[in-house]
Amino acid sequence: MGLLDFFRKLEWRVDPAQPRHAAQISALHGESFARGWSLAEIETLMSERNVVTDILRAKAQSPQIDGFALSRVAVDEAELLTIAVSSRRRGKGGSSPLLARHLSRLQAAGARRVVLEVDEDNTPALRLYTRFGFSEIGKRPAYYTRRDGTRGTALVLARPLG
Ligand SMILES: CC(C)(COP(=O)(O)OP(=O)(O)OC[C@H]1O[C@@H](n2cnc3c(N)ncnc32)[C@H](O)[C@@H]1OP(=O)(O)O)[C@@H](O)C(=O)NCCC(=O)NCCS
Repeated sequence: MGLLDFFRKLEWRVDPAQPRHAAQISALHGESFARGWSLAEIETLMSERNVVTDILRAKAQSPQIDGFALSRVAVDEAELLTIAVSSRRRGKGGSSPLLARHLSRLQAAGARRVVLEVDEDNTPALRLYTRFGFSEIGKRPAYYTRRDGTRGTALVLARPLG
């Protein structure tokens, strides 16, 4: 097995985020989205009782955080506000265990449905959501401002839980 193959077969672990992880989560959000969330914004969100946050780490490499997912639960519906994997770890399958574990935690928190918004041009995210059984329930034209200033349409996706 070559070195590249070794890195492709990373083993992942997913855990509930702790307050001390906020700085790494904020840094990851900043590298992943045109408008990053500040540390204060992340800390405020994570401290909400109805917000569920999970972190992804490569088993051999902890405590470095390689990804996270954050959702808000309102009665029986969860909104996946953000999910990201660090740029150096993308394309290695880490988002699947992260999303699988996160969805279980949302279900345990009482959610019966998950909704999210995604840029219609975000192929990796759309492939992930399709694989997990999400389907389109709406569209929001010119919803995102991308890094290059162009506007992107948001697709609204949903899937039942349980
Ligand atoms: C979306 C994201 C979390 C996926 O994480 P990941 O660990 O790279 O996910 P995977 O390795 O499982 O890849 C997901 C799918 O995208 C595909 N993919 C990966 N990189 C790709 C690329 N550059 N172009 C096209 N498809 C790509 C993979 O082949 C896989 O598809 P498959 O399930 O059909 O095989 C990650 O790309 C990310 O953090 N992006 C920036 C933040 C973001 O856009 N979040 C979603 C907001 S709604």
